[in-house]
Amino acid sequence: MYTMALFTLAAAFFLLGISVRVDGNVPHRARVGERCYCDLQASHGTFPWRRFAQLHSLSGNCSRTLSAKQFKEPIDIIGVIEQGLQKLAERINELEEEYDGDLYSIVSFRIIEIESAELTDLIRQLQELNSKNQEYVADHVVKVQNITNKVNELEEYDRFKVIKEHRNSLILKRSLSSCQSALLATPTPYVSSKPGTCSFGKLIRVSNPKSSMLNHFGTSYRYGSWGMDPLPAPGKEDQYWLTILSSSNRYGNKIRVFSSYGKFLTHSGPVDITFKTHNAQGSGGIMYNDAYYYNCYNLDHLCRFDMTTQEILSVKLPDAGFNDKFPYCTVSSCYGYSDMDLATDENGLWVLYATEGNFGNLVISQLNATDLSILQSWNTTLYKRSATNAFLVCGIVYATRNLSSEVEEIFYIFDTTTGVERNDLAIRFRKVLPGIQYINYNPRDMMLYVYSDAYVVSYNLFFA
Ligand SMILES: *[C@@H]1O[C@H](CO)[C@@H](O)[C@H](O)[C@H]1NC(C)=O
Ligand SMILES: *[C@@H]1O[C@H](CO)[C@@H](O)[C@H](O)[C@H]1NC(C)=O
Ligand SMILES: *[C@@H]1O[C@H](CO)[C@@H](O)[C@H](O)[C@H]1NC(C)=O
Ligand SMILES: *[C@@H]1O[C@H](CO)[C@@H](O)[C@H](O)[C@H]1NC(C)=O
Ligand SMILES: *[C@@H]1O[C@H](CO)[C@@H](O)[C@H](O)[C@H]1NC(C)=O
Repeated sequence: MYTMALFTLAAAFFLLGISVRVDGNVPHRARVGERCYCDLQASHGTFPWRRFAQLHSLSGNCSRTLSAKQFKEPIDIIGVIEQGLQKLAERINELEEEYDGDLYSIVSFRIIEIESAELTDLIRQLQELNSKNQEYVADHVVKVQNITNKVNELEEYDRFKVIKEHRNSLILKRSLSSCQSALLATPTPYVSSKPGTCSFGKLIRVSNPKSSMLNHFGTSYRYGSWGMDPLPAPGKEDQYWLTILSSSNRYGNKIRVFSSYGKFLTHSGPVDITFKTHNAQGSGGIMYNDAYYYNCYNLDHLCRFDMTTQEILSVKLPDAGFNDKFPYCTVSSCYGYSDMDLATDENGLWVLYATEGNFGNLVISQLNATDLSILQSWNTTLYKRSATNAFLVCGIVYATRNLSSEVEEIFYIFDTTTGVERNDLAIRFRKVLPGIQYINYNPRDMMLYVYSDAYVVSYNLFFA
């Protein structure tokens, strides 16, 4: 219901030529002359449906008071909206597969983020078209009305879906809790002996997706990475960054930076920083201590791009497989050019890769972040192609595999302190989309940052 209602809102504002601003912080609504401004809160929290209902009512009031001649938007936009509606209906169907309880939080994270992205997109198109074409007027009012009716119909449809989902989620919840009690009956396996740095214990659970949003460049960019710097330079504490690979899913040439999470969500004030010499390969890059670290394009080298001076350091990673030799894979396919996966944790900077000498099995190296030299390395027995990705927390490597289109599983750990490895972990987490192109742990907020088939997603981790 909320999906469609939000879309009604978008459609109504849109057709009225009213500017809609999606803001990270302040909920607000106002009417000034014949313009309506709505700030929509897009945050990690539960879906603000009460506020939303108010906004919806406001939009209804606006359309009642504005006369027909103000419907000036070209017919193209209506097509776009129709497509958008169809897409939304599909998304609701997708939601059906993704529920595992906690109805409103799940509805909210998907809907509000996707809608923000689409709203922004529509507004951009509106601005472009608005300046070009003011021709279509009165006879489109009927069409607008028809579409509004359609939206209302869909809204009804969705209301029933949500109710159905609620029922499904209750059933799932029940089966989950019986599964959990079965799990509790089996002995819990691993206790890290790492002293000091990781007082918060071992990883026991990954939350449901905490936020998810289409990346700022669109659905065709299936590979990318994002996050915030765990060791930021002064003044850059609130920055969020995003990189994408071009349509070949191999090559990246810039980093997009936003000064806050709110700006990141609302696409405002992006700053693109382009590499001067070495471009990036694969989506294993990360930001650490005001530098971006990545696999240099077409080379068995690591690159360090200084975000302030924009200088690039490039250093060979000895024996590392590159150019798709040892990528991460699922059973059916591989994530292209994922040979070198940079990682951060409480202990600093790491790179995960594989070597021929270690038979294509995962090698872990802790790096000196200044000169990219290897401080220490560990050979594991995990065949790199059998994992879909990996990250580190407190010197422990966690590797994931694809269980299904909806669920990824952390199945393997390697503790660099003790050299102990296990592959019987079964920490599962829900995916927003089937593919996982990037995972990194940020020790500053202790969250996982994931890039999943063009969506940027974050998760909370639970330790005990
Ligand atoms: C819209 O109009 C109705 C009836 O006039 C009123 O009760 C409601 O508060 C208005 N909504 C907003 C958000 O102004
Ligand atoms: C609006 O809907 C009515 C009934 O469904 C239909 O007869 C009419 O052609 C539609 N008008 C436009 C402009 O789409
Ligand atoms: C890993 O294996 C390679 C190849 O056998 C070997 O040269 C290297 O010394 C090993 N590294 C460690 C840290 O054991
Ligand atoms: C890292 O490299 C820099 C520059 O070569 C050096 O000054 C520093 O001592 C190194 N740090 C460690 C921990 O080895
Ligand atoms: C993940 O696993 C499911 C179930 O085995 C499979 O259908 C799907 O294709 C896999 N995903 C990828 C990207 O291989």
